[in-house]
Amino acid sequence: MSLDIQALRAQFPILARKIDGKPLVYLDNAATTQKPQAVLDAIMDFYTTTNANVHRGAHSLSDEATRRYEQSRDDVARFINANCREEIIWTAGTTESINMVAKGLAQQLKAGDEVVVTEMEHHANLVTWQQACKVSGATLNVAPILDNGELDLDGFCALLNSRTKLVAFPHVSNALGTVNPIKTLTEKAKAVGAWVLVDGAQGIAHGGVDVQDIGCDFYAFSGHKLFGPTGIGVLWGKLSVLQDWPVWLVGGEMIADVTYQDATWGGLPNRLEAGTPNIAGAIGLAAAVNWFSALDTAAVQQHESALLASAHEQANSLEGMRIIGTAPKKMGVMSFMLANAHPADVGFILDRQGVAIRTGDSCAQPLMKKLGIPGTARASFSIYNTLEEVDVLFDALRKATMMLA
Ligand code: ALA
Repeated sequence: MSLDIQALRAQFPILARKIDGKPLVYLDNAATTQKPQAVLDAIMDFYTTTNANVHRGAHSLSDEATRRYEQSRDDVARFINANCREEIIWTAGTTESINMVAKGLAQQLKAGDEVVVTEMEHHANLVTWQQACKVSGATLNVAPILDNGELDLDGFCALLNSRTKLVAFPHVSNALGTVNPIKTLTEKAKAVGAWVLVDGAQGIAHGGVDVQDIGCDFYAFSGHKLFGPTGIGVLWGKLSVLQDWPVWLVGGEMIADVTYQDATWGGLPNRLEAGTPNIAGAIGLAAAVNWFSALDTAAVQQHESALLASAHEQANSLEGMRIIGTAPKKMGVMSFMLANAHPADVGFILDRQGVAIRTGDSCAQPLMKKLGIPGTARASFSIYNTLEEVDVLFDALRKATMMLA
């Protein structure tokens, strides 16, 4: 089955927008993806017909809202091949998911313990562990990357030992586009008995994530990078690990029994979901997951690879353009520098042509410092982008090159 890109684009109302009279060419998908009508409708329908709090009401509307909300959990569990629905914890997004694990870890770490991350981390998967190590006295070790932005596997393995309590790495780097060999990394970390967390923020929207197959303990992702709404995300955790994971938020919904002096916690998933959840967000995310699941994953990945290949090819023949991150296995992201131009200037000129990209440090300041650059311009692609849009990007970049020369 191949993708009918024009029919697919027609499902995203925002793609018909113009910016300053020019057709929008949206190439900031690593920051957030656009939303198909099916997701917009699901959110609107929930608030229009079913809005009520969940797990609380003695009335029909609350029952209906609860059913739709919990059905959403089932849909997401199926999407990533979770072992059971209790392994799906709703969060506000990847950052909160990682924080949940890190706050729990901090309660279990002690001086002498070690945590391993990589040099390509987004701040969300670095500062969290850094702070957990700070409060517990544990040591944070950072696995090196090679010059092309690939993880240095030998360097990674050299950091693993019996003191390693947790290993965290991104599925796909938001700054470099590198696709990490997450199954191999998981196997290596598991061999020393460490917990493994995969930051799936960028990996999830390219399809084919199977958490049981990866073998990790935690996989974190956001709804808004997966065609769903902002403010909702998922922490998937292996049931056996989540069952004992310390809580970090306490309050309504997550308790079993409360006295004025003490409380006991309820079962999963509610134990890790204090307070009224983002009900419409969960329903919107499930609509996104169901919409995305109906597409042919192989065709999605093939189309995205073609977009990236075209971008790389055109970049190689544009004088002064340097791609940051040239690992053999990449997905979705082309970060670059244009001669001596500041990335912010490039972004501004592209915006005038209707081309939306991200500029700056991509929430990876230590990585930019290591690379000796102030930041990059970054074009990131999704399923609704076309090869013609890649050409528009390069027309705009040629213009920027001339203007900034
Ligand atoms: N983490 C998002 C990005 O890479 C916001 O742009």
